[in-house]
Amino acid sequence: MGRLVIVDHPLIKHKVTMLRDIGTGNKEFRELVEEVATLICFEATRDLPTVVVDVETPICKTTGYAIDAKIGIVPILRAGIGMVGGMLKLMPTAKVGHIGMYRDPETLQPVEYYCKLPVDSQDREIFVIDPMLATGGTASSAISYLKAQGVSKIKLLCLISAPEGVAKIQADHPEVDIFSASHDERLNSHGYIVPGLGDAGDRLFGTK
Ligand code: URA
Repeated sequence: MGRLVIVDHPLIKHKVTMLRDIGTGNKEFRELVEEVATLICFEATRDLPTVVVDVETPICKTTGYAIDAKIGIVPILRAGIGMVGGMLKLMPTAKVGHIGMYRDPETLQPVEYYCKLPVDSQDREIFVIDPMLATGGTASSAISYLKAQGVSKIKLLCLISAPEGVAKIQADHPEVDIFSASHDERLNSHGYIVPGLGDAGDRLFGTK
């Protein structure tokens, strides 16, 4: 089964508390989402492969390391976009794909309405990002879509996870590790995470 890694560093816990605060405005919310994404990214990239390289310091020749992986960042529209800048701070040469999903009102099945991935996604370590892992339905469908495109190395990064969402990903995609800044109590009857932080998309983009 995939791991659930709670990245509960004091800096993250502090920033997540600010994100939860109803008094935090859109500008600060956006900045905090990026900062927490950067901090989670640091932990989620711990097992990236490296190669030994030669390097010349001002003192002598020695050896060092270079990341030996191609990386893709795939935000799930729309709230995932808020995490992209924070991920690119640590991985500036990563390619960014996008996946948009909606729920078909008749079948209730998630359908992708927009998807643009880096052409060589199959060869990349793919980081799927979405701030809120609630029911897990959208994230699971996005991962299924990526797998159908031949992507095999996938990690899921979120800011806040609910037990229901984690259980869904672990059942549907047992090979995918989940990295989350906070694992909250439950979902409410409207599908919002409790205590959560409200609607991440609305708070990022000021749409409410
Ligand atoms: N999406 C959000 O933006 N917030 C939640 O609590 C759940 C899903």
